[in-house]
Amino acid sequence: MPSREEVAYFGAGPAPLPTPVLEQGAKAFLNYENTGLGLAEISHRSPTANKILADTRAGLTTLLDIPSNYDILFMHGGGSGEFSAVVFNMVAVWVENRRRRAESELNGDSDKILERVRQEVRRDLRLDYLVTGSWSLKASQEAASLLEPIGKDLVNIALDARKDNGGKFGSIPPEENWKLSPRQRGQGIESAFVYYCDNETVDGVEFPSFPKSLDPGLQDELEKPLVVADMSSNFLSRRVDVSKYAVIFGGAQKNIGITDVTLVIVRKDILSTIPPPSFLHALGIWSPPAILNWAVVAKNNSLYNTMPIFSIWIAGQVMKSLLAFHGDSKLAGQEELSNAKAKIIYDILDANSSTYQVVPHTSVRSRMNICFRVCKGDAAIEKEFLDGAESRMLQGLKGHRSVGGIRISNYNAVSMTNVEKLAEYLKDFAKKH
Ligand SMILES: Cc1ncc(COP(=O)(O)O)c(C=O)c1O
Repeated sequence: MPSREEVAYFGAGPAPLPTPVLEQGAKAFLNYENTGLGLAEISHRSPTANKILADTRAGLTTLLDIPSNYDILFMHGGGSGEFSAVVFNMVAVWVENRRRRAESELNGDSDKILERVRQEVRRDLRLDYLVTGSWSLKASQEAASLLEPIGKDLVNIALDARKDNGGKFGSIPPEENWKLSPRQRGQGIESAFVYYCDNETVDGVEFPSFPKSLDPGLQDELEKPLVVADMSSNFLSRRVDVSKYAVIFGGAQKNIGITDVTLVIVRKDILSTIPPPSFLHALGIWSPPAILNWAVVAKNNSLYNTMPIFSIWIAGQVMKSLLAFHGDSKLAGQEELSNAKAKIIYDILDANSSTYQVVPHTSVRSRMNICFRVCKGDAAIEKEFLDGAESRMLQGLKGHRSVGGIRISNYNAVSMTNVEKLAEYLKDFAKKH
């Protein structure tokens, strides 16, 4: 039976966790801090659970320097649940802004207000998606499906990166070519938000930095977009200026912890801009279901229903271990380490380009999910590559079933030692092919 030290795991998620966190987790699962009860057994409303929530929030706030006008929510449903939550909540915010405006202009005449907003929803509401890979594509499809009852063309695919890249994901075309909806608040066609996936896990495409055309610091007050980002697969791997976003979300199971808990960082003004459910219903729009309703979750301290306290505790321990390891440099330290590990791999792939072909363009290569083909996708040689890796206990390297090839996931808990073991293998294999 192999030990943890012998196996080097590069799976895309669930992903490896720091061994000391798992060792403490095993104890906490059985008997938390000598209470005689394990963490999966205690009430989610107990003082212990409340402290775990508060500690985990504090860890995230410190790591990301989250400003005080943001709330941190723990939710169910994973990244996919947030694909829906984003639509429910952000459409409601858009409607509420229009309702408030109509209310002030129409002197509170409720029939006229309803009629005006009804027309505006069909005419003016847009949801902008930057589609750079399989996950943003899925999110945009979920939005289109949820909005189908009120209109067909409300989802604006402001960018479909496949169009510039022979029908495949692997590039992020220049921002001048994006077709973002107008953002003036309150009248005419107007985007409820601009959505993007910071790191596309399947396709190995990562935004190198925050898009300039969305930067609120570079816009007039009225032009500031509400930016929503999926950071499921690169959360806590580099610094993030949270103040540029309306919402950031991610499932925990890659860089943060184990599955079961979704983290959502949301600006507080969003939470106070949800209209009365009756108004949405009168427009034929669903009000957000309670467990996906950010305002409801926030009001209940993320305990609207039973939350997995053990998973939240694990996330808190991972954050604590990052803080202990990097000290004051916090995520700058992690960013440096993630970049260094990714560089070791990409350098070998590039130096052996007749054996290995990296899929995405150089400028958008993911530091987290390194996707490449072996001998131009020769099925037999790719199998040989995977079998050879397996024989050295290098595991989890098969590319996503939808795209094939090889994928090395370089999440935070993948150690430099394991990256070096893999680097040796990449070099040895290239010598033979
Ligand atoms: C970037 C990204 N977004 C969303 C998801 C979906 O997450 P979940 O499986 O937690 O719903 C994934 C899953 O791997 C992902 O990688």
